[in-house]
Amino acid sequence: MSTSERAFQVKLASTGQIIDVAADESVAQALLKAGVDLMTSCEQGVCGTCMTGVIEGIPDHRDSYLVPEEQAQNDVFMPCCSRSKSDLLVIDL
Ligand code: FES
Repeated sequence: MSTSERAFQVKLASTGQIIDVAADESVAQALLKAGVDLMTSCEQGVCGTCMTGVIEGIPDHRDSYLVPEEQAQNDVFMPCCSRSKSDLLVIDL
């Protein structure tokens, strides 16, 4: 991951909990650190295991699992590798 990444926040739709995602960590890492149960496997955006719904905000897709048409819908993303273009991403967890 390059050093030019930016930090943002994710919000869990179920509890309203807001979790900081630092520039040098993935959403998956931040979620696990916060005690959120997230299944991951490849952690490279290829398997689809970590696929998570997006309710609000614009993901910055970095995976190679979703086809571009699916990525463009911005209703799911891969928290193991994808980031956010908006300051806050509300996710379906
Ligand atoms: S863990 Fe494989 S796509 Fe995220």
